[in-house]
Amino acid sequence: MSVTDLDQLKRAAAIKAVDYVRDGMVVGLGTGSTAKHMVLALGEKVKAGMKLRAVPTSQETASLAERCGIVLIDADNRWMIDVTIDGADQVDPDFNLVKGGGGALLKEKIVAASAKQFIVLIDYTKQVPVLGGSFPLPIEVIPFGWGSTAREIETLTHSRVVLRQRNGSPFLTESGNLIVDVHLPRIDQPRDLEAALNWIPGVVETGLFVGRTDVLIVGTPHGVETYHATRR
Ligand code: A5P
Repeated sequence: MSVTDLDQLKRAAAIKAVDYVRDGMVVGLGTGSTAKHMVLALGEKVKAGMKLRAVPTSQETASLAERCGIVLIDADNRWMIDVTIDGADQVDPDFNLVKGGGGALLKEKIVAASAKQFIVLIDYTKQVPVLGGSFPLPIEVIPFGWGSTAREIETLTHSRVVLRQRNGSPFLTESGNLIVDVHLPRIDQPRDLEAALNWIPGVVETGLFVGRTDVLIVGTPHGVETYHATRR
């Protein structure tokens, strides 16, 4: 399937997702190519008269939301988010996720955790029997002593850890941190791994989202499929 076709599946999933948004809600806005379609679809609702306020998970999403006429809430507010809608890089059969391909995982996790409902949007190629493998696990680490932090991660996971680069320099997150990508062949115990990684000093957050998904919306060549999960 071509990139354009996959983009149409992402768009179809996004259009379905915004059905969950009601007038007056506060919405957490994810980041990435799938979330972009969701922001555009919400923008259409706002143009049609719906009143919304939103919390963006990146500057990229904030700019797009503002261009769509969506009112944003200050980052230092104590939010009451009704629903957060975001993409993912991988989803396993228990609705656990790997996220952070775009480097926004820290804000994404905070905004997902702050919402009453977390809706995940993907095209069908992101569904995997087990997390890991083809997609490395992103971990946000503070720059101070990052090499030692990476070594601790290597020792824990017995896997290759690579500092993410952009244009020949280390990739910096919006919070001024680094990302290391961990090449794990498979993640059989995502909850245990998330806890063990967060125990390592210097780790700010991992791209594992375990037991957080409430609704999974999948764009497939045969139509959009919706699954309701139980948070565990
Ligand atoms: C951003 O850091 C990520 O977590 C994205 O949500 C994830 O990579 C999905 O992105 P796409 O929708 O672009 O595939």
